Amino acid sequence: MSREPSPQDRAKRAAAEEALTFIESGMKLGLGTGSTAAVFVKLLGERVKKEGLKVIGVPTSIRTGELAEACGIKLTTLNHAGWLDVTVDGADEFDEELRLIKGGGGALLQEKIVACASDQMVVVADQSKQVRELGAFPLPVEVVPFGWQVTQALIAETLDDFDVGGDKIGLRLFKDEPYLTDEGNFILDLHLRRIGEPEELATALNLIPGVIETGLFINIADVVVIGREDGTADIIEYVEDEDDE
Ligand code: A5P
Repeated sequence: MSREPSPQDRAKRAAAEEALTFIESGMKLGLGTGSTAAVFVKLLGERVKKEGLKVIGVPTSIRTGELAEACGIKLTTLNHAGWLDVTVDGADEFDEELRLIKGGGGALLQEKIVACASDQMVVVADQSKQVRELGAFPLPVEVVPFGWQVTQALIAETLDDFDVGGDKIGLRLFKDEPYLTDEGNFILDLHLRRIGEPEELATALNLIPGVIETGLFINIADVVVIGREDGTADIIEYVEDEDDE
C-alpha cells in the first residue's frame, strides 16, 4: 500500500524534478546516494523509458547501482567513463558557500570521487539541509579498520586544535557490528555541533594516516537545488567574491 507523500517527500521530489533540467541526452552522469538522490534516479529512469533520453550513469554506491538498473538506466564504471558531465547527489548539510557535509548514508568516498570527476555537481536537498554553519549533523569520516581506535585517538587530538563545538566521536554501527562501507571500511561520526574552519579541519583530518576521506565537501558543489514543501524549487549557485580570489 503506498502512503501519502509527506511534506518532506514533496520537497525532495521538487528538488529532483528541477535537477532534471540540468540533464541532456548524451550525458555521462554521476548518480548520488541517499533518499533525495534516489528520487532523482527514479525520475531519470522515467525519462529514459518514456522519452528515450540517452544517458549513461556511474553510481556512487552498490544500492544506487541496483536502483538505477531497476529503473532502466544504463550504467558504467568511473574508469570506463573517464570523466562525467554532471553528478546529482544529496547532502546532509550545506552552507551559503555551498560547502557540504555528506556521508549520512555511508557512501561519502565514492560520492566525493565521482563528484570530483564531474564538470558540475548539482546537489538536491530540501530546506532542512540549509545551515548557517556546518556541524550540527555529525561529520562522517571513513577510516581503515586496521588500528581504527588509534586513528580515532589521533582525530580526537586533532580536534583539540580546532574551533569546533563538541568532540564526541562514535563508531557507526549496523546491527551491533561496525558499519562497513562499500569499500569495507569503518565510519567514525564526529559530533562537532559547529565547525568553525571547515577547510582547515578537512585538510588536517586527511593528513591522519588511517583516515581515508571526510564527509566535508569543499569547493565541489556548483549548484544546490532546494526543493520546497509546496512543490517549488530554488537554484542556488555559489558565486565567489572577487576579493576572495
Ligand atoms: C549518502 O552517503 C549521503 O551523502 C547522502 O547524499 C546524504 O546523506 C543525503 O541523504 P538524504 O537525501 O537521504 O537526506
